[in-house]
Amino acid sequence: MSNTNKKAGKTAAANKTEKPIMQTKDLVKTYSTGKLETKALQGITLDIPAGSFSCIIGPSGHGKSTLMHLIGGLDRATSGDVIIDGAKISDLTDNELSELRASKIGFVFQFFNLLKNLTAVENIETAMMFSVNAPKSAKEQRVKALELLELVGLADKADAKPNELSGGQQQRVSIARALANDPEILLMDEPTGNLDSRSEEEVLEQLFRIHKTGKTIVIVTHNNELAAQAEIVYEIKDGKLHDLVKKVNAKKTQKKASKRKKVADE
Ligand SMILES: Nc1ncnc2c1ncn2[C@@H]1O[C@H](COP(=O)(O)OP(=O)(O)OP(=O)(O)O)[C@@H](O)[C@H]1O
Ligand SMILES: [Mg+2]
Repeated sequence: MSNTNKKAGKTAAANKTEKPIMQTKDLVKTYSTGKLETKALQGITLDIPAGSFSCIIGPSGHGKSTLMHLIGGLDRATSGDVIIDGAKISDLTDNELSELRASKIGFVFQFFNLLKNLTAVENIETAMMFSVNAPKSAKEQRVKALELLELVGLADKADAKPNELSGGQQQRVSIARALANDPEILLMDEPTGNLDSRSEEEVLEQLFRIHKTGKTIVIVTHNNELAAQAEIVYEIKDGKLHDLVKKVNAKKTQKKASKRKKVADE
């Protein structure tokens, strides 16, 4: 087990509580472009418990990515609040918000967003540039980036550029990059949206492993298999929280995830 793994394992028990690490309160986002006004979110109130595995589902264009951008502090709400680990983000300056984001949140985007001229290990190191949690020296950053590649099963691809990797491998590099600053929360927008079924399996397996280390995971997905395994599923329709589709006992789901891992290991 790598050091990163050990460290993450230690925080798992501490994180596993029903206390919300993220909350939204009556969240509204209206985009205005010229004459057109789009009410992308129309009053969303929800809780994301620390250490939970949540999915957000819903039809195309109904506000899922908008919600992810707001809860991740990538964009500001028109009204309402996002509270991350006790901090109301509307009270933060842009600099404070960037710091909070860099230290607490890792993002995985649908189209990987890797820098094409950098190798896998260099892509991970770029995420360490803006965080107070990151190792200070270039040498330590390299060690950590290599550990993260090992964690996602790509130790042998450190020097490969994105175009030398399969879709599933690129997505795993982007997951490793999202973990670069030991964030408590991982936000993912369609992490398996562009993958074939084999790569999708690879990525899901990594996600369940990472969840077991105590991270809070929130995923926007159209993938029913993935949503079926989540502890909490929120459905967004017309910018409103249509339904809390399911909320199950977290322990039960963890047992299922560990069974799944055993099967994958055999
Ligand atoms: N930057 C923007 N400027 C103007 N309108 C936007 C912007 N981003 C999103 N929208 C609009 O807001 C609505 C919600 O978009 P959003 O991207 O959140 O949908 P989504 O549920 O993620 O859809 P998909 O499943 O297709 O990714 C849509 O009508 C979209 O056209
Ligand atoms: Mg979207």
